[in-house]
Amino acid sequence: MTDAEKRVKELAAHAFGTWSKQNAYKSPKLITDAEGIYFYDDKGKTYIDFSSQLMCSNLGHKNKVVIEAIVKQAEKLPYMAPGFATESQMEAIEALNSIMPEGLNKFFISSSGTEANEAAAKLVRQAKAPAYKLISRYHSYHGATPTAAALTGDHRRGPSEQARCVVPGVRFAPDCYCYRCPFAMEYPSCNIQCARYLDYMFKEEGNIAAMVVEPVVGTNGRIVPPPEYFPLLRKICDDNDVFLIADEVMSGWFRTGKAFAMEHWNVKPDIMTTAKGATAAYTPLGVTAAADSVSDHFEENMFCHGHTYAYHALAASAVKPSVSEYRRLEASGLLKEVSDHLKVKLNELADKHECIGDVRGIGHFWALELVKNRKTKEPFNVKADKITGKPLMTAKISGEAMANGLFLNAWYDTLVIAPPLIITKEQVDEAIDILDKALVIGDNEVESTDIPASRSSEFS
Ligand SMILES: Cc1ncc(COP(=O)(O)O)c(C=O)c1O
Repeated sequence: MTDAEKRVKELAAHAFGTWSKQNAYKSPKLITDAEGIYFYDDKGKTYIDFSSQLMCSNLGHKNKVVIEAIVKQAEKLPYMAPGFATESQMEAIEALNSIMPEGLNKFFISSSGTEANEAAAKLVRQAKAPAYKLISRYHSYHGATPTAAALTGDHRRGPSEQARCVVPGVRFAPDCYCYRCPFAMEYPSCNIQCARYLDYMFKEEGNIAAMVVEPVVGTNGRIVPPPEYFPLLRKICDDNDVFLIADEVMSGWFRTGKAFAMEHWNVKPDIMTTAKGATAAYTPLGVTAAADSVSDHFEENMFCHGHTYAYHALAASAVKPSVSEYRRLEASGLLKEVSDHLKVKLNELADKHECIGDVRGIGHFWALELVKNRKTKEPFNVKADKITGKPLMTAKISGEAMANGLFLNAWYDTLVIAPPLIITKEQVDEAIDILDKALVIGDNEVESTDIPASRSSEFS
């Protein structure tokens, strides 16, 4: 065993591996460098980052503009208590004001997406008291601490729930998941029942403070709603005096082609939360952005919230340069050119590989949903397999891709295609070639049909 291997084993022995049984976290891969869309391990092997790490390294690795700003701030003033104003905080708030949808003009800066959502829940529950219930959806992830975990629909809520580490008062609504419609209907004749049902749900439940949604569902499927969904949901929230919270932790920052996904439908939430791309992952930072509908309440009432690291000067210094880099990329035309190309290439994979049941997404945010049988839509794996540890087909495919120099995240049912926004068409082709070969593993286990892959991406 080399020295490096010994130290990695020591690391795993003394550090909790996240979202993992500890006996399955023994020898994480040692990464020693990264640049652009590539990262490198200690053996000198190169990997294409086809998921932007955790869908957060939107500007790729080693962006000079962002790094320079952080270095300057580190030398000058890395931290002041949140009660003081700093140049870095002012620049971050100005940058947020310049890019956030109009009307979202009061911000709280924390250190993560989870914290952004905790703050949002507190804001709406205080402002709408005594109403306290929060409505979320099953295909969702909103974070790891008690309120954010309670809002999470995926398997990560389970163990926290059993350990009484979630807060009460959350109810779950059906997803707008057209490939597996919870109402067994088809768009457009469904008349968007998944949204309309919420009017019934809100009225029957009562005491609802807010509905929390990922505008384009992230980890849990890159689910793009039909165009009518959000205008309808906004109206139903208004009719029932319920706040709408858009969790854009993953879907924000040009991931879907626009600065924020809600802009695709021109719908304004009362609160937008974000993190990840806000600093392109160069520093840890979360943002809770509120409209007057929420923030007015706090003029005469205490904003009962804060952290030692709120508005952290060093963390905040990455916001302004990130915003200017996103704007530069947008103006260059690269985003649109490459996302169109990515869509074509993923659709070609779906034509070729029978294990792909559905291809869907928008911008640089795509899912390949894998199935054993396109006709019955029988999946290789289900949600529970993530808890029991049953081997996943997605993991077999992503493991093979990794061995050949392509990193992509594997969910239980989908592969996550979310490359850094700086990726070129040629680099997309390089990645698709590796993925193309790895998908054969899935094809070898399908029951053949003559049904083509579904394209829920037709909304994008
Ligand atoms: C939609 C969404 N919300 C919240 C979070 C939590 O963010 P963080 O991991 O920064 O706490 C995530 C993380 O992946 C997310 O995707």
